[in-house]
Amino acid sequence: MKTLIFNGSPRAQGNTAKALELITANLQGEYHIVNAYDCDISACTDCRYCWNNKGCSVNDGMQEVYDYIQSCDNVVIASPIYFSELTGKLLDVGSRFQTYYCARKIRNEQPAEKPKKGAVILVGGGDGNMNKAYETACTLLEHINCTDICKPLFYHDTNSSYITDDEEVKLSIKQITDYLNEVY
Ligand SMILES: Cc1cc2nc3c(=O)[nH]c(=O)nc-3n(C[C@H](O)[C@H](O)[C@H](O)COP(=O)(O)O)c2cc1C
Repeated sequence: MKTLIFNGSPRAQGNTAKALELITANLQGEYHIVNAYDCDISACTDCRYCWNNKGCSVNDGMQEVYDYIQSCDNVVIASPIYFSELTGKLLDVGSRFQTYYCARKIRNEQPAEKPKKGAVILVGGGDGNMNKAYETACTLLEHINCTDICKPLFYHDTNSSYITDDEEVKLSIKQITDYLNEVY
């Protein structure tokens, strides 16, 4: 079992990082975390190389992530909400999934990566609606062939509480971990 995890938070001890620590504590197999604020991955520049070619012209840390996407079973997107969206750096990383979009829609090829399960964890300082960020996360997961996405974890009010304060979070984390550990 292989799980690829995208962490959209810059805060090493933040709520997103803590949620991921709880997930990985009981995750079977191996996992790889891409920290959007601490990685050598630049944003897609719409160079259009992938309109005609497989892969991506930008030779940076994303090449390793593309390889992992080919073989992994699960993908987790975990992010704070910034201005109702995934964080900017995470969107930079996610923009590099454009090569999969172009494979399907422009080159009429099926990207080879196998079907995967997906999970989304979002945290926010306020109590607002997280649907916009969730929709973006699901779009990204679908681009990399996540054909099933489990019930998300939305955690609010981080301005006045910490994610481990909440009993419901523990249940949700367990549900997500059990889901990821199931053989698809
Ligand atoms: C630039 C910026 C924009 C933010 N926008 C929102 C927002 O739209 N909605 C919200 O609920 N919280 C917002 N927040 C609060 C963060 O989501 C909150 O601090 C969260 O706990 C950060 O996650 P972390 O603890 O994993 O780092 C924003 C924070 C920053 C720095």
